[in-house]
Amino acid sequence: MKKSSLIFGLCITLVFMIGASTIVGAKPLLKVGTSADFPPFEFQDEKTGAYLGFDIDLINAIGKAADMEVQIVNTAWDGLIPGLLTGNFDCIISAMTITEERLKAVAFSDPYFSSSQVIVTKVDDTAIKTVEDLQGKQIAVQIGTTGDLEASEIEGATVKRFNLAPDAIQEVRNGSVPACIIDLAVAEEIAKEYKDIKFGEPITTESYGIAIRKNNTELIQKINDGLASIKASGEYDEIHADWF
Ligand code: ARG
Repeated sequence: MKKSSLIFGLCITLVFMIGASTIVGAKPLLKVGTSADFPPFEFQDEKTGAYLGFDIDLINAIGKAADMEVQIVNTAWDGLIPGLLTGNFDCIISAMTITEERLKAVAFSDPYFSSSQVIVTKVDDTAIKTVEDLQGKQIAVQIGTTGDLEASEIEGATVKRFNLAPDAIQEVRNGSVPACIIDLAVAEEIAKEYKDIKFGEPITTESYGIAIRKNNTELIQKINDGLASIKASGEYDEIHADWF
């Protein structure tokens, strides 16, 4: 058979397969909001644009366990909770810390990851080790994060808020501010790449959860069941080992 007719045949088969899967009850769709600016949790492959990271693998595994088709919806961090509430997506996975404040607006799955905030400085900085050392200083953060919350409580500090997490770190690298407060695993990842920065001891204790609308009790249950099943099967550990 000629190569071109083989390709043609394959295309026809594909069209039928896609058509059939829509007719024969495709899986229910799980639309997932994320802010893909937070490696190694969620980020975009520079070349392919594909969404990658621990959270992405995790939600795909949970979706598989719950027999749902996962679709990632990349959304600015500070638009995630509003977007969930207006129904742009069904849940959020975005290294999102379970906080009292957020629990007023949304429900969270069982915690899936333990984290903390750390202070990122230039590698040769000797003045900043603790939160007290940041008093009266400029601190870069991603807007509306728990890092923002911590920074905002420091006496006399000026908080510079950025829409994208990497921009807050960049601000330290280019010497515009002496420090940034961000999640530990993200600081670790970035410090691996950029040798001109370092980070200190954890300054908070936090847990990440998947956010779901409070009234969507069915989905809260499905996601918790999915999470429990991938923990029991060892799949969670495999995904963890892939990224950390
Ligand atoms: N854990 C922090 C928080 O919940 C920061 C999360 C930022 N996530 C992101 N994908 N940029 O506030």
